Amino acid sequence: MLVLGIETSCDETATALYDSEVGLVAHHIHSQVAKHAQFGGIVPEIASRDHVLYLLPQVMQLLSDASLEPCDLHGIAYTQGPGLVGALLVGALFAESFALSLNIPVVGVHHLEGHLLSPFLESPTLDFPFLVLLVSGGHTALFLAKRLGAYELLGETRDDAVGEAFDKTAKILGLGYPGGAQLSALAQTGDASRFHFPRPMLHANLEFSFSGLKTHALTTFRAHESEPDCRANIAAAFQEAAVDTLVRKVDMALKQTGSSRLVVAGGVSANTVLRARLNALAAERGAQLYLPSLEFCTDNAAMIAYAGTKRLLAGERSSGAQVFPRWSLQDLTPIES
Ligand code: KG4
Ligand code: ZN
Repeated sequence: MLVLGIETSCDETATALYDSEVGLVAHHIHSQVAKHAQFGGIVPEIASRDHVLYLLPQVMQLLSDASLEPCDLHGIAYTQGPGLVGALLVGALFAESFALSLNIPVVGVHHLEGHLLSPFLESPTLDFPFLVLLVSGGHTALFLAKRLGAYELLGETRDDAVGEAFDKTAKILGLGYPGGAQLSALAQTGDASRFHFPRPMLHANLEFSFSGLKTHALTTFRAHESEPDCRANIAAAFQEAAVDTLVRKVDMALKQTGSSRLVVAGGVSANTVLRARLNALAAERGAQLYLPSLEFCTDNAAMIAYAGTKRLLAGERSSGAQVFPRWSLQDLTPIES
């Protein structure tokens, strides 16, 4: 089954072709980052307009790059939520109309299920159940993925997501938006031991809290602004504290669930320090670590096409171009694969 995947939940217009027999055929990502950067954050109206502009030409380009025609498609999967309502609607309306014109089935996909399943794109031997650390700009959570569509929430952030804390701290340090990757690059030149940052909520449970780290970065910056390498040292100390907290919670979750498989997904899994620390932890605990390559860590349509293919094959169909800007993973229907 050849499925077109469409992702427009936020500031990336992304499309992909996934074949249930051969795997990922092709995928494209158009990032709007430069358009939002001057505003210091995502402007929803600009995001929607950009999706309108780029989506159709990108789909046609994707098909032509793969030497395929629209009539070769057997199904379409699009991100139905969570995300920005206007941005989601562009993808939903396009997908539903395109599917109608081709007389093929269409299904809406939960963006986070896409992230959770993204390691399957490169590791088809991965199997349920597995522990998932989901770290993105909007979410920080630990799930036990029991089977397709059945994801038990073990703990999540009570305030800022870790990616959001990276972005806000980057802003304090005068870096551009989104600042996660830039902060990480700056941290490489800093001394993480110059400032001590707290490790929030370590002993409580599997919940997270990152807003205190961002505030700590602000007060430290104000107090030491004139010091040489102050920005790089804060970046390094912040990153160390954020990563250390995530890794320690993952360790607790591995023990609590007895899981021998660990999946890490979402934009922050692109962080090289986090990747190295999780590799070391997995080796120490005898767990198998599944880390998507960088292109599948951040928002992409390959993960949506993959999750959608599974759902289409299970007979799931959308019930019209509805979108869910707020949508809990717990509300998904588990499917038998
Ligand atoms: O999953 P994602 O692409 O978008 C959603 O939030 O759904 O994640 C984006 C987040 C941003 O907060 C960005 O700053 C962060 O991932 N990020 C990073 C790195 N690369 C992206 N954070 C830390 N280190 C990185 N290398
Ligand atoms: Zn995402």
